[in-house]
Amino acid sequence: MYYSKIIGTGAYLPEKRLTNADLEKMVDTSNEWIIERTGISERRIAADDETTSSLAYNASVKAINNAGLENSDIDLIIVGTCTGDRFFPSTGCLLQEKLGIEKNIPAFDITAACSGFVYALTIADQFIKAGIYKNALVVGAEVLSRGIDWTDRNTCVLFGDGAGAVVLQQSTEPGVVSSDLYSQGKHKEILSLPNLVTAPPKDESVTRFVTMNGREVFKLASILVEQAMEKTIADNNLTVDDIDWVIPHQANGRIMMAISKKIGIPMEKFVSTIGLHGNTSAASIPLALAEGVENGQIKPGQLLMLEGFGGGMTWGSILVRF
Ligand code: ACO
Repeated sequence: MYYSKIIGTGAYLPEKRLTNADLEKMVDTSNEWIIERTGISERRIAADDETTSSLAYNASVKAINNAGLENSDIDLIIVGTCTGDRFFPSTGCLLQEKLGIEKNIPAFDITAACSGFVYALTIADQFIKAGIYKNALVVGAEVLSRGIDWTDRNTCVLFGDGAGAVVLQQSTEPGVVSSDLYSQGKHKEILSLPNLVTAPPKDESVTRFVTMNGREVFKLASILVEQAMEKTIADNNLTVDDIDWVIPHQANGRIMMAISKKIGIPMEKFVSTIGLHGNTSAASIPLALAEGVENGQIKPGQLLMLEGFGGGMTWGSILVRF
């Protein structure tokens, strides 16, 4: 019987900081409003010469180093992203080249919006448990700033760019303990980033930016994520008290608080990077995980609950023995 275990984490944030004070000069908003409604005080924005694959590369190098491996040890690459450099080749393929991995290995992207990382990690875990691959590089990376209307105060205050990566290795004891993934396409309009390349010609409803019904996202995310977490915990005959850390998708501080209250896990057990990262979509969970490990919050042997939600609607939860 094979299991998979996270043996290395890495994070990368672009240099440029966009503060709430900067946004006050761009749209009709205020630092107080943004902090109160979202918990965000700044976010990072990719430089013109940065792309999702270059952000992914920087995070991956750190994760592979922290795992004590060489790039050539990686035998599977999965990138969770909804802002890949190109429609094809995938960001996974571009990352393989950047890492100088010469051998023929599978590399591909998973699009599940902000749930991209929990989907990617679950898929990599299945490949490893099946005994097919030994060292998977799983990445969440986004340059969502390029899909934002910077004149729309409803969305532009929320998002940022970044990347996080983990190395998942075959193991004789459980690391990824269990995972639950969901989607519900009927909620497609509450959060969407249209595709201008393949949208029907002359479709005037198509915009090139993220559109969002914030209230609906807020309501659904807090209900559905809490249900997913409850199920994952119950299926493993655990209680909420067994969870050492929740690593949530960093969409909004208030959503985290709502989930914390509903499920009964105190906010002190939530790793929160929302204040300085904003919502980095599929990158937010591996970024928070890497930061939590680096700053000593998360320790080997602890039980982690990763939870994500995003456009689709997609959502899910993963239990990890770190
Ligand atoms: N600054 C000032 N005022 C604003 C801003 C802003 N940046 N944005 C909206 N407002 C105004 C609105 O125009 C509205 O004004 P009105 O009453 O005159 O019409 C008022 O604030 C209230 O707007 P609401 O949308 O009702 O505000 P709400 O309290 O719901 O907060 C928010 C908005 C922060 C977006 C909230 O709904 C939310 O957090 N939703 C979840 C969003 C989210 O997490 N999205 C991403 C998740 S999925 C993913 O990660 C891809």
